[in-house]
Amino acid sequence: MNPVDAGFRFIEEVLVLRSGFVDAGAGQIRGKYQVQMIKLEHMSKYFGAYPAVIDVTFEMLKGDIVGFLGPNGAGKTTTMRVLTGFTPPTEGTATVAGYDIVSHSLDARRHIGYLPETVPLYLDMTVTDYLRYMGRLRGMNTTWVSDRLPKVIEMVKMGDYRDTLVGKLSKGYRQRTGIAQAILHEPDVLIMDEPTIGIDPVQVVETRQLIRELGQEHTLLLSSHILPEVSMICKRVLVIHEGRIVADDTPTRLSDRLQHTERIELAIRGAPARDVISLLRDIPNVIDARTDVRAETAIRSERDGRTTLLVDAKPNTLASERIAAAVVGKGWGLVSLHPLPMSLEEIFLELTTDEDAGTKN
Ligand SMILES: Nc1ncnc2c1ncn2[C@@H]1O[C@H](COP(=O)(O)OP(=O)(O)OP(=O)(O)O)[C@@H](O)[C@H]1O
Ligand SMILES: [Mg+2]
Repeated sequence: MNPVDAGFRFIEEVLVLRSGFVDAGAGQIRGKYQVQMIKLEHMSKYFGAYPAVIDVTFEMLKGDIVGFLGPNGAGKTTTMRVLTGFTPPTEGTATVAGYDIVSHSLDARRHIGYLPETVPLYLDMTVTDYLRYMGRLRGMNTTWVSDRLPKVIEMVKMGDYRDTLVGKLSKGYRQRTGIAQAILHEPDVLIMDEPTIGIDPVQVVETRQLIRELGQEHTLLLSSHILPEVSMICKRVLVIHEGRIVADDTPTRLSDRLQHTERIELAIRGAPARDVISLLRDIPNVIDARTDVRAETAIRSERDGRTTLLVDAKPNTLASERIAAAVVGKGWGLVSLHPLPMSLEEIFLELTTDEDAGTKN
């Protein structure tokens, strides 16, 4: 073994021994030089008989930036609350930095910075007083807090607001104060629950930039229900739906997987729906065509004497052009034709019903 490898081997063994015997290691060593910071194993959380999270297993290594994507009620917040020790799992285990969140809660929580969905802020305190108070709650001594405060305020770019009452801050700056309290005690793991929800578009851009910067120094788990947001910040995306992980992939591969159909809405005058559908279904790369039964379009269609249809086609195959040519060729009136974006619910539905989209758990 060469001296460099031998050196690493030595460090590894020391760290393994530390985490094994003294239980004081930051993370668990897994494989060569990879430190495991978050580990959930077969974690389920029930509220009474209701399963909010079901059999979730994943791990994050030191430095990972992972997006946790899911629609409302999917189980994102519940999973994060288990990971941060706010609520115990009903089944399975959660480990942070090598510490079990239930049996070694304090040790685990020392390594975690948490930005909850709603940050508990004290509106009648100044930003500085609030952060000092949060530092004391975390067991930081006065010197440590005084040393950290200016650095943290600088990081979240709140120099001009250090003496402002929290209650007078805009939503975006309150969120930054929340981020400041999450990073104050120098945790190596950051867990952020929908950090950009409810803030104005300019602040969203700045907050994403801040999160990206924090991602360079932390292991970061970030929940969102916006795929583009997660794609901008994260290298890996976990998708949760109805309490289960349904995908674990890179943002690019996830987007590719979701773009295997293109949906087109078109309205036609002067032709029975049946005839139009059979014509459309014969066009190459058209997967399906059907009348649009959404209530508002049905009523409008009837009133205007036209048929509104939805067509699913393979993407990037110029299906729209072929459809337009075929309809016009028949002498029918092409009133409108435009692509429809897939709704988030449809995206999740697709991920949960697509055979290719097997879980990696
Ligand atoms: N304390 C609780 N008691 C009972 N049910 C709960 C509780 N907390 C969450 N739930 C339920 O568990 C499910 C998952 O909720 P959770 O808040 O984890 O979802 P989420 O993915 O964070 O959703 P959102 O995007 O709306 O924040 C939901 O059906 C929710 O109603
Ligand atoms: Mg939530």
